[in-house]
Amino acid sequence: MRLLPISLCQPGMRLGKKIYNEEGLVLLGEHVELTEALLRRLTQHGICFLYIDDPRTDDIVVRELLRDETRAVAMQTIRTHFRRLMEDSNRKKAVNQQIGKAFREVVGLLIDDLSRHSDAMIMLTSMQLADHYLYQHSLNVCIYATIMGLTQKLSREDLTVFSLGALLHDIGKTQLPPAILTKPGKLTDDEFEAMKQHTVYGYRLLKDEPNISLLSAHCAFQHHERINGSGYPRGIAGEQITEYARWIGVVDSYDAMTTHRVYRDAMLPHQAMEILYTGAGTLYDKEKIEKFRDKIAIYPLGVSVTLSTGEAGVVIDLNAAMPQRPIVRILQDPDGHELEEPYEIDLSKKLSVMIAAVGLHTPL
Ligand SMILES: [Fe+2]
Repeated sequence: MRLLPISLCQPGMRLGKKIYNEEGLVLLGEHVELTEALLRRLTQHGICFLYIDDPRTDDIVVRELLRDETRAVAMQTIRTHFRRLMEDSNRKKAVNQQIGKAFREVVGLLIDDLSRHSDAMIMLTSMQLADHYLYQHSLNVCIYATIMGLTQKLSREDLTVFSLGALLHDIGKTQLPPAILTKPGKLTDDEFEAMKQHTVYGYRLLKDEPNISLLSAHCAFQHHERINGSGYPRGIAGEQITEYARWIGVVDSYDAMTTHRVYRDAMLPHQAMEILYTGAGTLYDKEKIEKFRDKIAIYPLGVSVTLSTGEAGVVIDLNAAMPQRPIVRILQDPDGHELEEPYEIDLSKKLSVMIAAVGLHTPL
């Protein structure tokens, strides 16, 4: 199977991987045939890429990081509680909703699933429809943070605190006026000032909550602070920002860039990573960016690439020691002719060959 921009997918192609609905349940199974109507619906839901069956690359195996049951419980818990908080005009009452217990259970399931894949490179390959960007984003940030916590061998209790902080880092957004939260374009200066308050609201919602540590509440409070003091809400710097909040700052920015928004398409992993790097040492801890880069599959399995030689193909395997230099199955010669006999190039062994373009060239 291979990963294609949805704009290049055509009716008749078959799905290579499941697609989940808003509740985290399987909407379309593997090998389902795509129709015009389905493609339109998926595009409307902001899905930018699809895994498609392809006999030339059907040996690619992309492991799901989460079990279907875990994904469903996580999405349903996030949706139910965040919605309730959005609808509840009385914030005081919202605080007494005992959200700690439900989210702690979700985090327990996520940690169990992700511990089984702690050696794997991170590829968020799940295609999921979302009725609200906030729900999917909260889960993604939690997955990234938990994997980074696992690679640093945090104790179970510390990991729970970190994962909960990541899952709930944006919970304060439920308290923003809907017109700001769901505005499809850029915010005005005044709206942006109001939006910044989600950090404070989040802290207030979490700080007295049973089952939620004050450190998790600080993830909500501090995840937009930056190490040079340029962040918000307080403009604190360096070690004044907790370690966990500095981590969430990194993975939150990465997920925001690699997710489709109404006003721009999703970036590919290598593009988002390049932008994160421009903030290494100023906005984010350099060593966190480096650790994150070493865990992220910047060229995901199945993505189309064109090499500096002009040959084009698909990433079929990753080199754990050199994740930026994957193994590519060449399907097209430099003149654009399809090869009868595809061959493979291991970029970790051919250091003179570079990846020149990713993802968006015409289907092979
Ligand atoms: Fe945020």
